[in-house]
Amino acid sequence: MRAFVLGGSGLVGRAVSRRLLSAGWDVDIVGRDAARLPVDLVEQGVGFTAADRSDTSAVGAAFGGGADLLVDCVCYTAKHALDLVALADAADSTVMISSKAVYADAAGRHSNSAEPPRFDGPVPESQLTVAPGDMDFNSGQGYGPNKVAAEHVLLDSGLPVTVLRPSKIHGEGARPARTWVFVKRVLDRRPVVLHAHGGRGVDHPSAAVNIAALVETVAARPGRRILNIADRDAPSGAEIARVVAHHLDHQWDEILLGDDAGSPLGWHPWDRRHPVVLDTAAALGLGYSPVGDFASTAPAEIDWLVSLTGIDGGARLPAAHDWSVEGAFGRAFDYAAEDGFLAGRRQPGPTPSGRATPHRPR
Ligand SMILES: NC(=O)c1ccc[n+]([C@@H]2O[C@H](COP(=O)([O-])OP(=O)(O)OC[C@H]3O[C@@H](n4cnc5c(N)ncnc54)[C@H](OP(=O)(O)O)[C@@H]3O)[C@@H](O)[C@H]2O)c1
Repeated sequence: MRAFVLGGSGLVGRAVSRRLLSAGWDVDIVGRDAARLPVDLVEQGVGFTAADRSDTSAVGAAFGGGADLLVDCVCYTAKHALDLVALADAADSTVMISSKAVYADAAGRHSNSAEPPRFDGPVPESQLTVAPGDMDFNSGQGYGPNKVAAEHVLLDSGLPVTVLRPSKIHGEGARPARTWVFVKRVLDRRPVVLHAHGGRGVDHPSAAVNIAALVETVAARPGRRILNIADRDAPSGAEIARVVAHHLDHQWDEILLGDDAGSPLGWHPWDRRHPVVLDTAAALGLGYSPVGDFASTAPAEIDWLVSLTGIDGGARLPAAHDWSVEGAFGRAFDYAAEDGFLAGRRQPGPTPSGRATPHRPR
């Protein structure tokens, strides 16, 4: 059995490749930079072609006569999808990794809109999506519409293409690795963790290893379909922080901030005012068996992040992975603002804007 994975050196691609290799598959990968290919995949003899996916002759030559499974982890536009269709004709089963960012609520709000979406409950695959579009896919407003356009091209092709819609993906190799907001806090030996909106925010995690398990299931059951893929459970931001602290054997006090606390105090990537949970019944109905829940799959990312910081316990990531200073994660580490807030509290206990809860790892 041969699998061909576009973008196979990244977060999803390496998890898929590992899963298939351990099941006895031959795996060939396309990526632009061989240096991104994990050593264990090199040692297991994956084939690697250094090419941009837009170089259709190089990708076509690497694909050769066909594959049992074709997986595209870097399909962001209708053009990418058209290029994939040209290969999919010679594949028994094709998988395209889309995103839950395609979903829109009844008011048209979506993952990247100024106003966050408000779904009625777990989101099924039949949920409304944003309209297809071809603006810059590498932008908040363009990402979802381009994914929808790509999905349409693939599903309209009539070929056995499975579109997977993950939520926030975690695992070894994640860029960004969102648990860093809590891992760094542990490495910085912070005695407290603050949570905006009481830490109640939920934005469903999707373990890369669970996505890989579903890809293997789909390989054995080719079809034209859309499937949500997310972890068995949908922990809140506070619960995710507890998983990290527990795994790293760290104790801190939780400060659950009220809804009136000033931003960015207590910010974290799962801070949704309205929960975003994917309905995964269709994937389970296909026979997919998750590798684990969030708590059992999250250590892959946590341990990897700790390993990147080196054995001296420093809480810095190498430049290529550093989301802590620049970019969206910086606001999670404004310790001076936190300390000012904490100093303003006379003593632990209920306050108009927060509540202190001593945490013991469970
Ligand atoms: N991460 C998330 O939380 C998340 C959530 C929902 C959906 N998704 C979707 O999941 C898919 C996979 O995401 P991921 O997190 O696994 O991405 P990733 O970690 O960035 O991996 C992408 C891989 O593809 C390679 N690549 C990038 N552009 C390429 C190109 N033009 N030609 C050939 N190779 C290219 C990259 O290596 P080089 O740079 O060396 O080429 C990288 O190894 C994406 O389609 C994304 O939209 C991700």
